[in-house]
Amino acid sequence: APAETDYDVVVIGAGPGGYVCAIRAAQLGFKVACVEKRATLGGTCLNVGCIPSKALLHSSENFHAAAHDFAAHGVDIASVKLNLAQMQKRKAGIVEANVKGVEYLFKKNGITWLKGEGKVQGTGRLTVAGKPVTAKHIVIAAGSDSAGLKGVDVDEKVIVTSTGALELSAVPKRLVVIGGGVIGLELGSVWQRLGAEVTVVEFLDRLVPGTDNEVEAAFRKILTKQGLKMKLGHKVTKAEKTAKGVTLTVEASKGGDAQTLEADVVLLAIGRTAASKNLGLEEAGIAVDNRGRVEVDEHFATNVPGVYAIGDVIKGPMLAHKAEEEGVALAEILAGQAGHVNYDAIPGVVYTWPELATVGFTEEQLKEKGVSYKVGKFPFMANGRARALGTTDGFVKVIADATTDRVLGVHILGPGAGELIAECTMAIEFGASSEDIGRVCHAHPTLSEAVKEAALGVNGMSLNI
Ligand code: FAD
Ligand code: NAI
Repeated sequence: APAETDYDVVVIGAGPGGYVCAIRAAQLGFKVACVEKRATLGGTCLNVGCIPSKALLHSSENFHAAAHDFAAHGVDIASVKLNLAQMQKRKAGIVEANVKGVEYLFKKNGITWLKGEGKVQGTGRLTVAGKPVTAKHIVIAAGSDSAGLKGVDVDEKVIVTSTGALELSAVPKRLVVIGGGVIGLELGSVWQRLGAEVTVVEFLDRLVPGTDNEVEAAFRKILTKQGLKMKLGHKVTKAEKTAKGVTLTVEASKGGDAQTLEADVVLLAIGRTAASKNLGLEEAGIAVDNRGRVEVDEHFATNVPGVYAIGDVIKGPMLAHKAEEEGVALAEILAGQAGHVNYDAIPGVVYTWPELATVGFTEEQLKEKGVSYKVGKFPFMANGRARALGTTDGFVKVIADATTDRVLGVHILGPGAGELIAECTMAIEFGASSEDIGRVCHAHPTLSEAVKEAALGVNGMSLNI
């Protein structure tokens, strides 16, 4: 780096990885700037990802509950009508409050927002909107973009990615989702609850790849019961816009006769790819892997000295909290501290109803590693609070090492799973045994008792089943 630099740290990208890295770097005494080309801070997650999707998930749950569940509680309402414009307005307000919150945090921490596109030139040097900037450390946190599919041209109106699916101004009669992963199921659920007939076309014979098989099977059964249509083991080869909507050509994944599917709106959700283009990486000689992800060592360093990368643009799960952990760890490493991310304790949550939350290893992964394990399970049907809530679908599954009893994985399908997984993540982080969880006093009546009971179940000691 040049002897005198404009900043100590310049982060490119103000998503959960970048903005959190910038804040921790500022807290540690660095002079920090963050480059963001979008009109607002917060990245994919706050603008078009986690936050708006959770806002619509919650609103659509309320709508569905009012229409279908209130009567059972003795709450009679005359008729339920959807005001989608208001629902979208509420979502936009939540996004705005969140992105403004990041702007406030930048001011509070003395971080400069450099507006425009950043390009890395080499050690210590970059440009922002064409103008040169110098920095001791450069952090690439450029995130990811929706993956495209040949024959399916996105217009964000009729053939949409998640971004367009969050902005629809009318409920489509028929929504076809390409990809039975996290986005497809979350946003498919939103529009299904609001009245769309939803069909998911998924390449594999199952949903949400990587999920514990037993849990996935139960999850799929519940979604099927809710009316979600699935075409598993199929791929879309073409989507053609017609006067009435879209005609999709679908065939079996292994090949076979083509069929057609009609849709009003098509959501393409087959994964996301690292946003490593337009960053000047090639010119700067920064190595990327065969999937366009910036290559880093265990300290987030690229092959060019002084240039680092974190979040969706590098390997690993594309999750906001993973990006945040990396941002914090890197800022601490740059300050000479021992920043570290434990990749064995990163939870994953699908915010459908019921939620699916998982941390640590699945049975399949443990079998492959040759680790012997024990399993404890507890159904929400046997949990008093779940019964009171009227949400008894699903179960908790705790997997522990057969010899040491150390918790290796927890998988929760059920109400509030995304919150319940926090204590399980902490158990794994602290190296707890299933007996440790089973001996912790859990408040009654709470859903968390199902976690305790499943942990007790690992050694055959559940009390309420
Ligand atoms: P991003 O958030 O993608 O931010 C990167 C930023 O860099 C962007 O703002 C971009 O404009 C900017 N940028 C890129 N290149 C440049 C450049 N050259 N110059 C200037 N700026 C640049 N994850 C969860 O954990 N939980 C969820 O519930 C969840 N829901 C999601 C829902 C949807 C619909 C989507 C699409 C994603 C969701 N995710 C969720 C994933 C999550 O959004 C990402 O993992 C997370 O945003 C990654 O953070 P990041 O900081 O690496 O990148
Ligand atoms: P994904 O990787 O979760 O799912 C994509 C699905 O599409 C897979 O099941 C895959 O088998 C299937 N697929 C791939 N090609 C196909 C084809 N040609 N035809 C049919 N199916 C095909 O990706 P998704 O849902 O797009 O999400 C992208 C990323 O965003 C994920 O990595 C996820 O981590 C993140 N995200 C996280 C959320 C959360 O944490 N709650 C919410 C939304 C997104």
